[in-house]
Amino acid sequence: MILIDGKKCSKELRQEIANEVTEFVAAGGKQPHLAAVLVGHDGGSETYVAAKIKACEEVGFKSTLIRYEDDVTEEELLAKVDELNNDADLDGYIVQLPLPKHISEEKITEAIDPKKDVDGFHPQNVGRMTIGSPAFVSATPQGIMQLLKRYEIETSGKHCVVIGRSNIVGRPMSVLLSQKGNPGDATVTVCHSRTKNLNEICQQADIIIAALGIPEFVTKEMVKEGAVVIDVGTTRVKSDKTKSGWKLKGDVNFDEVAPKCSYITPVPGGVGPMTITSLLLNTLLSAKKAIYK
Ligand code: GUN
Repeated sequence: MILIDGKKCSKELRQEIANEVTEFVAAGGKQPHLAAVLVGHDGGSETYVAAKIKACEEVGFKSTLIRYEDDVTEEELLAKVDELNNDADLDGYIVQLPLPKHISEEKITEAIDPKKDVDGFHPQNVGRMTIGSPAFVSATPQGIMQLLKRYEIETSGKHCVVIGRSNIVGRPMSVLLSQKGNPGDATVTVCHSRTKNLNEICQQADIIIAALGIPEFVTKEMVKEGAVVIDVGTTRVKSDKTKSGWKLKGDVNFDEVAPKCSYITPVPGGVGPMTITSLLLNTLLSAKKAIYK
């Protein structure tokens, strides 16, 4: 069994990005600039946004954090989105989700200029990704594709089972794996809460992508000997063994599944570290005008 080291891959990729930034700036390019909009004080969002800002510094990007209290109106936020869309210094920005209930996430996402949508959430980017045109691809699926590539995991002709159909992970993952190319060219089955015979379907999988958000859902009975298992789950559970008082649990029962796998991602340290790095990659691509010419 080979443990897929997302931390190591992420570090390598960040070094590559940092080198590209140095070269780009030395050749007269503008320092890439990412902004993050954070509404309210949700613990998870605070942590993620702080990590995104720190990651920018690490690779030599400029970063801007824009904060609002959770009573900000939809109009105020839309006005900020418009301002960011027209800010020539900014290569990309994200509006951290979830947003308070009185604000439509759909409306905000659709108001973001697709050319600055480094989260890859705008319908234009999702559509372009789906038809195989250049697009910003959302962070988690892109991170998983990077891991598959860097570990040279064969996907062509393989049966890949994606558990979960979210717009951010499951659905784009199924599209990317079935697309022509490497990684890609897989036969993909998307499973979800209404799927019948989930165990039997998983047992036939060469590759399982678990992205449903239920801790330790995937058990050894569901996994074929030699399968590749990618765990996207990051549920916070209380723990008296950690300083913070909580720990992350994946969607896979790692201890019993790992011995059956050819490759598996741990939680933490697997897919997670790659996601912010993918955001950095999208920002660099935006600065270089590599997606939208
Ligand atoms: N909330 C959880 N993950 C993400 C992400 O990747 N982007 C944004 N904007 N919000 C999130």
